[in-house]
Amino acid sequence: MEVVVTGGAGFIGSNLGHELLTLSDVDEVAALDDLSTGFRANLDGTGIRLLEGTILDPDALDAACEGADAVVHLAALPSVPRSVIDPVASHHASATGTLEVLQAARRAGDLHVVIASSSSVHGANRELPKREGMRTALVSPYAVSKQATEAYAMSFGHTYGLPTLAFRFFNVYGPLQAAGHAYAAVIPAFVDSALRGEALTIHGDGEQTRDFTYVGTVTRVLADAVTRRVTDLEPVNLAFGTRTSLNALVDELAALLGHRPAVDHVEQRAGDVRDSQADHTRLRHRFPDVEPVPLREKGCPSRSWRRWWPVVATVVGGCRRRSWTGRRGSSSRPTTPRPSRGRRWRWCGTNHCGAGWRRLPASGARCSTSGPRSRCSSGPTGNWSGPDCRRGTHARPVKRAQAHFWAR
Ligand SMILES: NC(=O)c1ccc[n+]([C@@H]2O[C@H](COP(=O)([O-])OP(=O)(O)OC[C@H]3O[C@@H](n4cnc5c(N)ncnc54)[C@H](O)[C@@H]3O)[C@@H](O)[C@H]2O)c1
Repeated sequence: MEVVVTGGAGFIGSNLGHELLTLSDVDEVAALDDLSTGFRANLDGTGIRLLEGTILDPDALDAACEGADAVVHLAALPSVPRSVIDPVASHHASATGTLEVLQAARRAGDLHVVIASSSSVHGANRELPKREGMRTALVSPYAVSKQATEAYAMSFGHTYGLPTLAFRFFNVYGPLQAAGHAYAAVIPAFVDSALRGEALTIHGDGEQTRDFTYVGTVTRVLADAVTRRVTDLEPVNLAFGTRTSLNALVDELAALLGHRPAVDHVEQRAGDVRDSQADHTRLRHRFPDVEPVPLREKGCPSRSWRRWWPVVATVVGGCRRRSWTGRRGSSSRPTTPRPSRGRRWRWCGTNHCGAGWRRLPASGARCSTSGPRSRCSSGPTGNWSGPDCRRGTHARPVKRAQAHFWAR
């Protein structure tokens, strides 16, 4: 089958494209993206076809949808603060854009359409956990545009019989999530600041909570929805009912980095939601096999590290590609080729460092298999490698990470 992913060069879209191409049912993935917040480099060498264009252009949509079987519609201008600054752009991208995508799907012969809505639609409704049928209380232009997105999808299901499915994403994190810009999501923003030695910025007291969802889990559900052609006339939460405060996130980062980053508390932002936690009953019913990847795994720091490592590598190394899948307990040899350059590489069999290929010391000693313990403590800031490191026997997370992630 052929799948069109709008916003396919963005964070979730490029992860999804990669996930889809691992499936035997999927022959081709095309990413329709105007590169406003996405990156061409996210797709380089992945086999995903980039169609540069906007979803506001019906001709570009028709060209993308020709011969396709399904559309995963992710294109939007995400971020609440961005929508507060420019509500019209937010509206065009999400509301008008979704309408155009749905029209194109009808013209192409009633393609299956899976769309991305957001937990932000719950806004000022303080009830937890967030059930899909609960009253929405929109407090930002972004939330309004996302409510329009899901409402259009469901109305096309009712009115025209178009096979649609609207997911509400919560806080998605993982590899290829961009940091270092004004609207960066909290996890890459924290990692970026911590590794630069700058204070982490928290809006408010830090006790606001989020339901963080690993991108690998999200893309697996999306891919399953596409291949099984799952439809619904009601939205479905795509998160698993976890609740982590930003202060707890700082604790987690401190434990992983080995030092506590400074924190700067600033004024709360307009449009921000206080607490977010999904009710996942409907998701579990529709996707009984899905196994979420947790933010932290108690009692096993190396597993925890596996979740964070690709995020850190992306932020620090600017990695745009990956072979990281984040599958739980996966220790099979990766399909990625062994990096050709360098001295000695060996499959370490644990996947804790992404693809699992580790550069070994000249002596050929076995590599250490726990992420955090391989961190070098000889440098003043506890860096992993570089001039501070005298041991040199462990994986280096910046440049060499790129070799672990589909060598460029
Ligand atoms: N990341 C999250 O935590 C989260 C949470 C809730 C909902 N969502 C939704 O998930 C979707 C994907 O989000 P993401 O985090 O990957 O964001 P992203 O910014 O990385 O990806 C969005 C992509 O859409 C593209 N795009 C924007 N306007 C477009 C247009 N007019 N035509 C074509 N392409 C356009 C961008 O260039 C970008 O590649 C969005 O719809 C977002 O609202 C994300």
